[in-house]
Amino acid sequence: MGIGQQFIKATNSDMPQNAGREQGLQQPYLEVLYDGKSELVQIPEPDFLDDVEGSFLELIELRSSVRQYSGEEMTLKQLSLLLWCTQGVKMVTDRTVRNVPSAGGRHAFETYLLIRNVEGITPGVYRFLAIEHLLVKVGGEEMMNEIASRGCTQPIVQTASVVFFWAAQVDRMTWRFGERGYRYLMIDAGHICQNLYLTAGAIKFGACAIGAFDDNAMNEILGLDGENAFVLYGASVGK
Ligand SMILES: Cc1cc2nc3c(=O)[nH]c(=O)nc-3n(C[C@H](O)[C@H](O)[C@H](O)COP(=O)(O)O)c2cc1C
Repeated sequence: MGIGQQFIKATNSDMPQNAGREQGLQQPYLEVLYDGKSELVQIPEPDFLDDVEGSFLELIELRSSVRQYSGEEMTLKQLSLLLWCTQGVKMVTDRTVRNVPSAGGRHAFETYLLIRNVEGITPGVYRFLAIEHLLVKVGGEEMMNEIASRGCTQPIVQTASVVFFWAAQVDRMTWRFGERGYRYLMIDAGHICQNLYLTAGAIKFGACAIGAFDDNAMNEILGLDGENAFVLYGASVGK
């Protein structure tokens, strides 16, 4: 039996899942905490974002993967809207309530951004603090170029205004669902990226999903251990 079939079998609903919650473990934090030292970057708050015009059906029907970008700058408001629609937090209780669905409301992703061409933001790598709706700087241009040269070498990573990378924070999901939670991580990632496609379309930008990248290099560059935290999915956005 191949590894894929083994995975589906082992995460079947009949199997013991070893969820952390059932073992009495404390619930993991709802986001990877800010270290208190790194540079923070303010972005427009969700309340101040403009609604977007256009037909909903047209937005869905015209969605396609866009890989050619003009190099036009993205505004801070546009970046904020993309973050709001993909991972924005509407309410915090014992979990977060966001603009995308997530199994058990676990929302087990951290959003990393490779920012090349956004109004007023120094090019580099940032992480979205979803609860605070802020960016925290992770690295400068050097890290950004490392990602483009060995993490993900597709041309879209070099020409997009912003590239999103969604990193799973596994324990946030498996605490509730155990091994079956790995299925939900993959499903959840799809919802996030679809909202990115549609929001990008609504503001007349183009997006392209990214599933092909060097896992080890991406995780190493972003300082993720590759087991409890790893990049699962990404997408480029440009005009
Ligand atoms: C899970 C997934 C991974 C993908 N990875 C890439 C990728 O790494 N690079 C790329 O150029 N397109 C990628 N795509 C985009 C697909 O190639 C694209 O969705 C498909 O060709 C259909 O075209 P459309 O999106 O324009 O309808 C990916 C799409 C999905 C859903």
